[in-house]
This record gives sequence, structure tokens and C-alpha cells, in this order.
Amino acid sequence: MAPTFTTQLDQLKKQGLHRQLRTVEESSPGRVTVDGHEALLLCSNNYLGLADHPALKKAAQQAVERWGTSSGASRLVSGTLPLHRYLEERIASFKGTEAALAFNSGYGANTGIIQALTGRGDFIFSDRLNHASIVDGARLAQARLIRYTHNDPASLRRALERHPSKGVRLIVTDGVFSMDGDIARLKELVLLKKEFDALLMVDDAHGVGVLGETGRGSVELCSVSGEIDIQMGTLGKGLGSFGAYAAASHDIIDWIINRARSFIFSTSLPPAVLAASLAAFDIIDSPEGAELRRRLGVNTDYFRESLRSSGFNTLGSTTQIVPISVGGAEQTMTFTRLLLERGIFIQGIRPPTVPSGGCRLRCTLMSSHIREDLEHAVEAIREVGEALGMVTGHV
Ligand SMILES: Cc1ncc(COP(=O)(O)O)c(C=O)c1O
Repeated sequence: MAPTFTTQLDQLKKQGLHRQLRTVEESSPGRVTVDGHEALLLCSNNYLGLADHPALKKAAQQAVERWGTSSGASRLVSGTLPLHRYLEERIASFKGTEAALAFNSGYGANTGIIQALTGRGDFIFSDRLNHASIVDGARLAQARLIRYTHNDPASLRRALERHPSKGVRLIVTDGVFSMDGDIARLKELVLLKKEFDALLMVDDAHGVGVLGETGRGSVELCSVSGEIDIQMGTLGKGLGSFGAYAAASHDIIDWIINRARSFIFSTSLPPAVLAASLAAFDIIDSPEGAELRRRLGVNTDYFRESLRSSGFNTLGSTTQIVPISVGGAEQTMTFTRLLLERGIFIQGIRPPTVPSGGCRLRCTLMSSHIREDLEHAVEAIREVGEALGMVTGHV
């Protein structure tokens, strides 16, 4: 007889891999109450604090008054509102592309875009640490998924050489790797995509709004704006709203509209979300946006350097995502629990999100964090790290 779900759940619990939902109540920017503990929030993707910004809230409220609470249908039925058009025009001009298309989530965007652009007989070359939604997109597409070594253009080159094709060859990479906080080597990927006549797609879920002088993301930081065939990004992280987008040429966007199942067969984003996203782009493009990015950078540098000099391994992080490598699942979750008892909320990350043995704390910084709170967090992390035998005392 097949094992019951109860047996399998018991198995997960024994392995330290059981996941549970926690209700998080935000009390003030960057502070939350979790399971009765008041804590500093160090695991939100609301990097710039825009989810709490008065301008986004007001835009959402006004949109509800004007347009109601739902779009009422999928885009190709009767669910395309003027707000969808405004947002897509805004994204295209922000990204410097001919066109853009809004999706209901980053997960839906990646699965939809990849399934639309590739099919049987095509190849998808994907960085080994790409987000799960990219892998799921490849599964849906039924194209062959070739995974190259993380951030290793030489490995990608070998893969491209080994798999010639008359069909589509799509290279796809996270701009910022969501669990490691490092940045894709986009300049080298652009050279390879040109040499091998492939398409290049960048998922900038964690870069848009945050990275680059003007918040255009990893493509701006790596000076490759205009060289990427498909730029995907999310609206629910640095932009403080919800949803995602593809920005590309007219033809690619038109093809996606006609083929992406997650786009075609789903009710479109509601007015409040669209209006909040538009307001977010206004802030990203304003002096306030520049100041939020600057503060985030200062917080990130302080936090990462303090952890490194305390002896923690922060992997390849160069962004606001700062992992602390732990190793085992049990120890990672003990670390998380002991930190929460000290008023610090950082989520532990375990398989299948990361490979087994690669468990970590994934810390994320926000513009709204203040130095005193971060100093307290670093001290608490050091204390717990020492208690767990991960670091040997102050360096
Ligand atoms: C790199 C990356 N791509 C895509 C997604 C999915 O985005 P969303 O949360 O909007 O579905 C995430 C979410 O964590 C991500 O980290």
C-alpha cells in the first residue's frame, strides 16, 4: 500500500524538513510580531519598504473606488483594463524595451514565458541555482533542460557547444540569485548568446527597483541594458506591490500573449495592484527612490561585513540578500528558533529550496532598518552561532 500522507509528514518531521506557516503581523516598518515574539524583520523582500508607502496605499484605494476590486476576467476575455495598458507602457519605458506584459506573479511569468518560447526539440540552458519557477517552466515546455554550473560561463559555453540546434536555444538566468545573493555574470552571458545565436532571458525578481544607479536592476548594474532578449521582473518584492512582467520586443510579447498558458488562462491583476505598481515606479524614479536604494546599500554593506568579520560564511553575496551558510536542516531551524527568542526573525532555508547540506539562514536587508537594530541582530547572530559551534568567538 502507498504510504499515507501522515506517514510521509512524520518522515519530513524526523528529517527536520517539515514546513509550517507562520503568521507575521507587521507592527512598524521592519518590525513584526511572529508567534507572539516581537522581532526585527530580516527576511522580507519588501526591500525598500514600498509595501507600506502612503503613495502606494493611496493609489490602490483610489483604483478600487474608480475600477472596483477585480478585473473580472482573463486579459484575452474582458480583463484588460486601461490600468494594464498604463502599467505595461510604464514598464516598457522603464526597461527601454518595445513592449511589456504584466503577469499575475513571478512564478506565473517564468512558467508562462518559458513554455511560450520553447517546446519539444528546443533547449533551455539554465543556471543550476535558478529559481524553481524557471525549472517548472522548462518542464511545462517539454524542451530539454540543460543545467550549467552556477555562474560559470565556461560551463555554459560547453553546454552550448554540445547541444547545437536548429530550434530555439534559450539561456535563462536569475539576475540576482535568490538564495545566494550573488549576481549573474551578464556581460559574459550576452557574449555567449551572441556567439551561439541564442536568446537570453534574465529573471530580475530581486534586482528591479533595487540595483543599479536608477533601479533598473542587474542589467543596469552590469551595463547590459538593451542586450537582453527577455527581461522578467517581479512587482511584489522591491516594488512593494504584486505581480510580475516580461519586457521584450513587440514580437516576443505578442507571441507570449498568444501562447503563455499562465497568462491566457488566469484572471488578470486587479485594479488596486496595478495602481500600486504604477505608484511604485514613480517612487523608484524619484530622488526618494535613489535615497531608499542608498540606505539599503549602506545597511547591506554594514550587515554583510559584520557577519563576515565574525567568521560567518555569507557565500557569494554582493546584494541585499545575505545568506549565512549553516549546512544541516536541524541546526538551521534551531538557529532560526534561538534568534526569534532574541527578537530577530530570519527564516531558515532547507531542501528542496536549496540542495541538501546547503541549508542556510537567508537574511534580507531593508532601507528602513536602523543601525542600532542591525548591531543588535549581528550580536544575537554571533551569540547563537557561537552556542551552535559555528564560529569561535569574536575575530
Ligand atoms: C528569482 C525569482 N524568480 C521568481 C520568483 C517568483 O516570484 P513571485 O513571488 O512573484 O511569484 C521568485 C520568488 O521568490 C524569485 O526569487
